[in-house]
Amino acid sequence: MTRSRIAVCPGSFDPVHNGHLDIIERCRPLFDEVVVAVLENEEKKPLFSVAERLEMIREQLAPFPDCHAESFSGLLVHFMERVGATAIVRGLRAVADFEYEFQMALMNRRLNPHVETVFMMPREDYSYLSSRLVKEVFFLGGTVDGLVPEPVIDRLVERRDLRAREEEEK
Ligand code: PNS
Repeated sequence: MTRSRIAVCPGSFDPVHNGHLDIIERCRPLFDEVVVAVLENEEKKPLFSVAERLEMIREQLAPFPDCHAESFSGLLVHFMERVGATAIVRGLRAVADFEYEFQMALMNRRLNPHVETVFMMPREDYSYLSSRLVKEVFFLGGTVDGLVPEPVIDRLVERRDLRAREEEEK
């Protein structure tokens, strides 16, 4: 019996955007199972909690029975051993991503020589997209329509309204 090919798509996903979803969809035909792995990085003060980030991703993965999302802390390679994954899938947007991704890929391979990193190019329309820019543009009053799923926009609006109420109460 052949072993199933399991890939992880790791990231902060604060929040998930259409570039992430494009990469997840692109890697589905290459693997039997895709695990979207959300890093627990509360010390970096993310906008959304891990539970919220997972919820937003899970809403988008609902139509895909071969994909699910989990959170992880500690080393990615240890998480991969737990879920039986041998491939890391990362989106490569521009030359600027290369150095960071190259370092991570080689470090992960050093930590576990059986792990391979697969880089995929997102759709051109999303090649400049990042969660950081989505948040910056949104909170400065720009539109992020078409860059993140609708439920993510709803949550950004909720967060903005909450911030405004907190400011008023100060
Ligand atoms: O979306 P991001 O923030 O670029 O994702 C970075 C991520 C989560 C892939 C990376 O920080 C990670 O794998 N962190 C887990 C800790 C780890 O394994 N570090 C050693 C590998 S270089």
